[in-house]
Amino acid sequence: MFTRKDTMPWAFYNLAQNPRTVSIIRNELSPIASRKVPGTGIFEPEETKSLVYLRAALYETLRLYPPAPTERKTVVADDTMPSGHEVRAGDIVLVSVHSIGIMEGMWGKDCLDYNPDRWLSEDGDKLQHVPSHKFMAFNSGPRICPGKEIAIMQMKTVVAAVMWNFDVEVVEGQSIQPKLSCSLQMKNGLRVTVKLKKREI
Ligand code: HEM
Repeated sequence: MFTRKDTMPWAFYNLAQNPRTVSIIRNELSPIASRKVPGTGIFEPEETKSLVYLRAALYETLRLYPPAPTERKTVVADDTMPSGHEVRAGDIVLVSVHSIGIMEGMWGKDCLDYNPDRWLSEDGDKLQHVPSHKFMAFNSGPRICPGKEIAIMQMKTVVAAVMWNFDVEVVEGQSIQPKLSCSLQMKNGLRVTVKLKKREI
């Protein structure tokens, strides 16, 4: 429903400013690339499926910049919310997915920082379980996005190919800001410099 194209500029924006993340992603890709014909540099969805840090890096972008920043729910029957607020049938409840993604009480003091490590388990080689009502970029409950895994798979494939083959730098002096609309796009787009990376494998 929401598109990967809303997320990709934010993902490359985050990655370009976090060389450590790029380096960890390249380390994840390295053993896969070494099994390929030299110079291929393109990764199949199956090959990136198990890459934990690459997924964590994308989740972190989606936490900070959810393409659907607001969820709108209509109350079916009179009820009391867990917070104690009373709602009546027909009321409309707006949920700010964007705010939930950057609440200190949920994500800690560094809630505004881009830090894919927060998604990792204690031993660092798995993703920790984060419930969908906390990470709401794909919605939660029965109407959760059925395209989540397809979206992640496609974004992983694109990020892997770009980050393996190129150095991406954000052009200085641009105004990076979200567009006020129902999807969280970049208002002015993102200008980057892309340099081919010389590789032996
Ligand atoms: C970054 C990519 C994506 C994000 C963040 C995303 C997010 C969402 C969200 C938040 C909803 C709930 C909307 C609502 O009811 O208020 C939704 C619904 C939906 N998404 Fe996605 N989506 C993404 C990609 C995709 C893809 C690639 C597909 C299909 C291959 C897809 C298929 C759907 C469908 C069919 C629904 C409606 C489900 C229903 O009404 O029960 N989405 N998505």
